[in-house]
Amino acid sequence: MLRLDVLTLFPEIFAPLFASIPARAQQAGLVAVHLHNLRQWGVGRHRQVDDTPYGGGPGMVLLAEPLFRATEAITALAPERPRVLLMSPQGPRLDQAAVFRLARESRLLLVCGHYEGLDERYREALVDEEVSIGDYVLSGGELAAMVLSDALIRVQPGAIDAESVRQDSFAEGLLDHPHYSRPATFRGMAVPPVLLSGNHAAIEKWRREQALVRTAERRPDLLSGS
Ligand code: ADE
Repeated sequence: MLRLDVLTLFPEIFAPLFASIPARAQQAGLVAVHLHNLRQWGVGRHRQVDDTPYGGGPGMVLLAEPLFRATEAITALAPERPRVLLMSPQGPRLDQAAVFRLARESRLLLVCGHYEGLDERYREALVDEEVSIGDYVLSGGELAAMVLSDALIRVQPGAIDAESVRQDSFAEGLLDHPHYSRPATFRGMAVPPVLLSGNHAAIEKWRREQALVRTAERRPDLLSGS
């Protein structure tokens, strides 16, 4: 059972985590998702959560006080201390190996930052790990938190067929092989005959070769280990 706590200023945009496979995984008790609005821990009458940066410059900075208070309050909601992940383009880039590693944790707190930044003292004191979902900048960490959550949820044992997870792209460091379904010939395009042969060893070999060829053509970086 994985417990995901998400700290965000926009809890209302997390619908994807309550549809499809993530919804079923929660109904099955494989994962629990808890959304928390940072505004709840805002400072003063206006529940302020950000302010201008010391030293000047554009944008706003998320204040240390609400972040610390929220993290402490959310931590206290369950017996186990969560591993705190800050969604940020400055973290190491997420890959399937990191997904498998993080999916084994029992409790994660995903903090949605904003690119202008968040008070560095929070990152230093309470963040265990930063996670980027790619080398581009989003308006905030919310979409990144949804991407990470979805990837974590679908590999929870029982969420989807174990064989699908094993055969996913990247599961063995390779892209997936091509897939075909009926009819055997569609608009003059035939399915590779080996797939109709019933020879499981030959099919397995063909798929492995196709995965290698695709990976070499499209993502040589995955083969060279760089
Ligand atoms: N916040 C803004 N951009 C991001 C990215 N690429 N990954 C994770 N969090 C982000």
